[in-house]
Amino acid sequence: MIRIPEPELMDDPIQAESYAKADFETAHSFLVRKFQDRLPLRFIPESILDLGCGPGDMSSRLYSQFPNANFTFLDGSEFMLDLCKKRMGTLVSEKRKNKIQFKKELIQDFVPESPFDLIFSNSLLHHLHDPFDFWAGVQRSIHEDSFIFISDLMRPDSLTNANQLIERYANNEPEILKRDFYNSLLAAYRIEEVKEMLEIVRLDSKLIVEPVTDRHWICHSKPK
Ligand SMILES: C[S@@+](CC[C@H](N)C(=O)[O-])C[C@H]1O[C@@H](n2cnc3c(N)ncnc32)[C@H](O)[C@@H]1O
Repeated sequence: MIRIPEPELMDDPIQAESYAKADFETAHSFLVRKFQDRLPLRFIPESILDLGCGPGDMSSRLYSQFPNANFTFLDGSEFMLDLCKKRMGTLVSEKRKNKIQFKKELIQDFVPESPFDLIFSNSLLHHLHDPFDFWAGVQRSIHEDSFIFISDLMRPDSLTNANQLIERYANNEPEILKRDFYNSLLAAYRIEEVKEMLEIVRLDSKLIVEPVTDRHWICHSKPK
C-alpha cells in the first residue's frame, strides 16, 4: 500500500488536546520497556533530546528514568509544547527547572549548540514529508557515543489491515483520535523503507531496526 502523508505539525488545538488526553499507557509503557532493554548497561546520559515531544507523555517517562539529566524537548507545534511544559511542570522541582529546555522549533531548523548523549523520538518520523529532514536532525545532534532510540508506527499492508488495527486498538477512542491514528498508519514508514533510509544516510552501521508489535518498529544504536 502506498504511503499517504499527513500534515507535519499537530497544531490544531482540538487535535493536540485530544492527543494529550488519549490513553497511551499500554503502547508507551511497552515501547519504554523496549528502550530500557536496549540501553547499554549502566548508561547514564547527561544530556537528552526528545524530538517531536508532543504533549510530553514519553518525555515525562524519560524524565522519571533520568531525573538528573539536562533535557531538551523539541516540537514545532506551540500547542503541543505548551501541553508538554504543563505536564513537565508538575514533575520538575524549582531547583531543576534550569536543566530543562523547551524548544518550539522544526526539526529541519534545529542546530544544537552541543551534541546529546541520548536522542529519543517517538512517533515523529511518519509526520515528516521528507524523512531525510528527520535523519539530518538526528545526525546534527549526536556525538560518537550517543545512544539513539527511535520508535514509530509501521504502515500496514492494506486499508483493511489499517481498519482492523483501529478496531483492535482504538475502538473506544473519540472519532478525532481514531481519524488521527488511521492517518498516521497510512503515513507511517515500513521497516524496509527505514532500512533503506539508514543506508542512504550511512547510519546503517550504527543503528538496527526491529518490528516490536503489529504496528510499531524501533530503531536504536547497535551494542558496541
Ligand atoms: C504523534 S506526535 C508524537 C508526540 C510524542 N513524541 C509522543 O510520543 O506522544 C508527533 C509530534 O511531532 C511534532 N512534529 C511534527 N512535525 C514536526 C517537525 N517538522 N518539527 C518538529 N516537530 C514536529 C507534532 O507537532 C507532534 O507534536
